[in-house]
Amino acid sequence: MTQLSAGVSFGPIAKDELAAVAELEVTAFPPPVYPVFFFRQAFDLWPDLFWVARQDGQILAYLVCGPEFIASSRLSLMSFAVAPQAQGQGLGKGLLHAFLHRLPIIAPQVRQIWLTADPDNLPALRLYQQHGFVISGEESDYYGAGYRRLVLTAEIAAKNC
Ligand SMILES: CC(C)(COP(=O)(O)OP(=O)(O)OC[C@H]1O[C@@H](n2cnc3c(N)ncnc32)[C@H](O)[C@@H]1OP(=O)(O)O)[C@@H](O)C(=O)NCCC(=O)NCCS
Repeated sequence: MTQLSAGVSFGPIAKDELAAVAELEVTAFPPPVYPVFFFRQAFDLWPDLFWVARQDGQILAYLVCGPEFIASSRLSLMSFAVAPQAQGQGLGKGLLHAFLHRLPIIAPQVRQIWLTADPDNLPALRLYQQHGFVISGEESDYYGAGYRRLVLTAEIAAKNC
């Protein structure tokens, strides 16, 4: 777990924090959002790939990834959000950086991480590009008519022993 001087720490989620993540999700995204049962299943399946930022017992941000079954060297960043009242203070950057830094230890087989983003979501796109993501594709009706998404991909370097 990475501990910041401001009292914010980053690390894998605990089961009793799932409800707080589901509440954060509703405040950070317009509908449709992931329901709490998705978070529970992600916790059961990939607990090491589901991280939060916490401060004084409060969940301020989360990210959740899912591994690809066939292409085990690829990981999908399925969701990532910072609580609205905590945005713009470096938390998103801190959480993503801490997770990507740890990823070669958590999942040494992973060489690539990908995600999709709304082309108008400039804060998210800038943050991803700062962390090595490049636009690798685009789909006009990703979640149905009108849901245009960019696909972004980052390469993950192997950890030297
Ligand atoms: C996108 C999001 C995760 C960024 O987290 P954050 O904690 O607000 O961002 P940070 O304060 O760590 O800033 C990191 C970088 O993001 C970019 N950024 C953040 N806010 C920005 C804004 N209002 N405008 C432009 N760029 C911005 C900048 O590149 C910034 O780096 P810099 O400070 O060195 O310039 C957060 O705003 C969020 O949860 N948004 C709603 C949910 C969402 O869109 N999730 C991503 C789905 S793909």
